[in-house]
Amino acid sequence: MILQPNEVLHQGAGLTMNHLLSMKDLNPETINSLIEEAELISKGKVPELRKKFTAAYLFFEPSTRTKMSFEMAAHRLGISLLNFVPEHSSSTKGESLYDTVKTLEAIGTDLVVIRHSEDAYYQDLKDRISIPLINAGDGKGEHPTQSLLDLLTIHQEFGKFNKLNIVIAGDIFHSRVARSNAYALSKLGANVYLSAPDIWQDDSLPYDYVSMDEAVEMSDVLMMLRVQHERHGSEMDWTKEEYHQMYGLTLEREKRMKDTSIIMHPAPVNRGVEIADELVECERSRIFKQISNGVFMRMAILYRLLEKGAI
Ligand code: NCD
Repeated sequence: MILQPNEVLHQGAGLTMNHLLSMKDLNPETINSLIEEAELISKGKVPELRKKFTAAYLFFEPSTRTKMSFEMAAHRLGISLLNFVPEHSSSTKGESLYDTVKTLEAIGTDLVVIRHSEDAYYQDLKDRISIPLINAGDGKGEHPTQSLLDLLTIHQEFGKFNKLNIVIAGDIFHSRVARSNAYALSKLGANVYLSAPDIWQDDSLPYDYVSMDEAVEMSDVLMMLRVQHERHGSEMDWTKEEYHQMYGLTLEREKRMKDTSIIMHPAPVNRGVEIADELVECERSRIFKQISNGVFMRMAILYRLLEKGAI
């Protein structure tokens, strides 16, 4: 008997990796093949799904880029989307995330994308649902699709990861983007460094810290992070201007970067805080390129999970 893609999925999670939850789960071959596929898509080679699929995007935290680019990716692949609005859903009546996803599964949804404020919210779901789940951000845990689009952007620039000096700088402790990228980039052979004020360093991450002055001079890729005010619970210890001068990418610091180095940021950007306003769209900035790449990478991911049944 030949199984159709969806039947393979419904054989049960665990056998094949039919979710995308953490960059820790992906080996370099898988990462490189996703980059290759997204690259082809960016050049107009859009793969065709063999049947009509329906997906639901559950965003329990605000999102512009991730949600809209997942939506654009679905439109371009011909995937129908169910309109899930958390404030209008039974989550407000106390329904668990598990029951919400089981409900979507029961009505015939083929795939779910979830963003949630709880770290590793997916642990409770991953072995109990039979449709693919894509993690679009779990609290301060991980953000694998952001990492994959960042990797695509770096690969387009340098054609490799091995031995590149990559500094991830800013609010490391609260950043799911930092975690996913650090895991992935070190696996791919890059030299990963972090830069952060003492209170936002994360000792569980096994990477060396450098100052911002060192970061600008040594990095091939300088990945700035947004100050995650919403996860702090209190005001910053510094004014915005003080933070900018001590830990931000100022106009003066940018001048000391290598000619070939690039600036990245997952956005949204606090202009004038972690990065000078003028640098957001400067020549070495790839910030809007990252956003465009998000659509291509998410198309590659959606295609693979729906058509092939595994990542
Ligand atoms: C990031 C996120 O939500 O984690 N944004 C994004 O998805 N592009 C980073 C952030 O919010 O700072």
